[in-house]
Amino acid sequence: MNTSNFDPKQFRQALGSFTTGVTIVTTRGEDGQDYGLTANSFNSVSLEPPMVLWSLSKTSSSAPAFMTAEHFAVHILAADQESLSNRFAKRGEDKFAALPIQRGPGDIPLLEGCSARFQCRTTYRYEGGDHIIFVGEVVAFDSFDKSPLVFHSGGYGLLLKKNSDLADVSSNFGDDWLGFLLGRTYYQLLMPIRERLKEHGLRDIDYELLTILSMGDGRTLADLQHLVAITGQEVAAKDLQPLVERGLLVIDQDRRVHFTEQGRRFAIELLAFAKAAETSAEQGLNFEEAQLLKMLLKRVIRSTGSELPAYWRKENFWRENSVWTQALCQDATPG
Ligand SMILES: Cc1cc2nc3c(=O)[nH]c(=O)nc-3n(C[C@H](O)[C@H](O)[C@H](O)COP(=O)(O)O)c2cc1C
Repeated sequence: MNTSNFDPKQFRQALGSFTTGVTIVTTRGEDGQDYGLTANSFNSVSLEPPMVLWSLSKTSSSAPAFMTAEHFAVHILAADQESLSNRFAKRGEDKFAALPIQRGPGDIPLLEGCSARFQCRTTYRYEGGDHIIFVGEVVAFDSFDKSPLVFHSGGYGLLLKKNSDLADVSSNFGDDWLGFLLGRTYYQLLMPIRERLKEHGLRDIDYELLTILSMGDGRTLADLQHLVAITGQEVAAKDLQPLVERGLLVIDQDRRVHFTEQGRRFAIELLAFAKAAETSAEQGLNFEEAQLLKMLLKRVIRSTGSELPAYWRKENFWRENSVWTQALCQDATPG
C-alpha cells in the first residue's frame, strides 16, 4: 500500500489494536515548572544497561521542557488511576494541582499510587516523524504490586489474567445456570443481614420494604407494591404493621410511609451489613475482577430489562432523600 494513501483514522484504529499499559511521564523544565503527560508509547529497551523509551508529540506543550531536561520519570498507572490519566492527557490543565509529589534527580516530580515508577536520565533523543523518541537510562525504580491500567482501541480496560479458574467452568447445567449462580450469590450475601433481621423478628418482606424505603421514603402503599413486585412478592397494608409496631416506620395522614429516626438508623445498620458482606465476598477477587464482575452483571441487567414496566426503572427506585447516599457520606460500619 502506498503510504500517502493511508487513511489516518484507519491507521490509528489499526495501531489501537495493540494493547498497552498507560504511563504518565514527568519532568522539571528549565523554568522551574513541572511538566507531564499521559503516554502509552512507553516500552522497555534494554536490561543491561537498564533502558526504556517513549515518544512525545512535537506539538505537546511539554515538548520544550522534555527537549532540554536531563531527567524524566515514567509512572506505570494502576487500574484505579484512570482520572489521573485523563488529567494528564488534557492540555492547559494544572496537571499537578493538589497532588502529593516527591522529587527525583534534577528535581523531577514523582507521583504516587502507580504500579511502577522509573527515574531516568535522558540518554538519546531521536527524530520520529511527528514525534520525538526519548531513550532513558533507568537510574532508580519502584514497583508497588498494583494491577495496571490497560489501554486498547482508544479506551481503558482492566487486566484479566487467563488462569486455570476460568478454564474450570463446570458444564453441568444445574450449577452453571446464570440464575442459579446469581441467586446463590445473592442468598449467601444476604445471610448476615437475615440474621440481624431475625433478631428483630423481621422477615424477608420487611427487608424488601426497608430496602426500597432506604432508596427514598415518603412512598404510598401503591408505590411500595409496584416496586416490591420486582422480587415476585406481594405487599398488603398489614405487611407494614410489624415495622410500624417496632417503631421503624410511620404512616402520615396522606398514607405515605416514612422512616422514624430509629427506622432510619436501623436501615443504615442494614446497609453497613450489606457493605460488609460485599467486601467479604470480594476478598477472593482482585480489583479488576470485582470491577469486571459488576460491569458484566450491569450488562445482563440491561439485556434482560428492556421489557420491564417503566416503574422498575432505576430512577424510580431512587429519591433524593435516600438513606444510602446519606449513610455512605457518614461511613457506616456494623457496630
Ligand atoms: C492513553 C493515552 C496515551 C497517550 N500517549 C501519548 C504518547 O505516547 N505520546 C504523546 O505525545 N501523547 C500521548 N497522548 C496524548 C497526550 O497525553 C496529550 O496530547 C497531552 O497530554 C496534551 O497535553 P500537553 O500538550 O500539555 O502535553 C496520550 C493520551 C492518552 C489518553
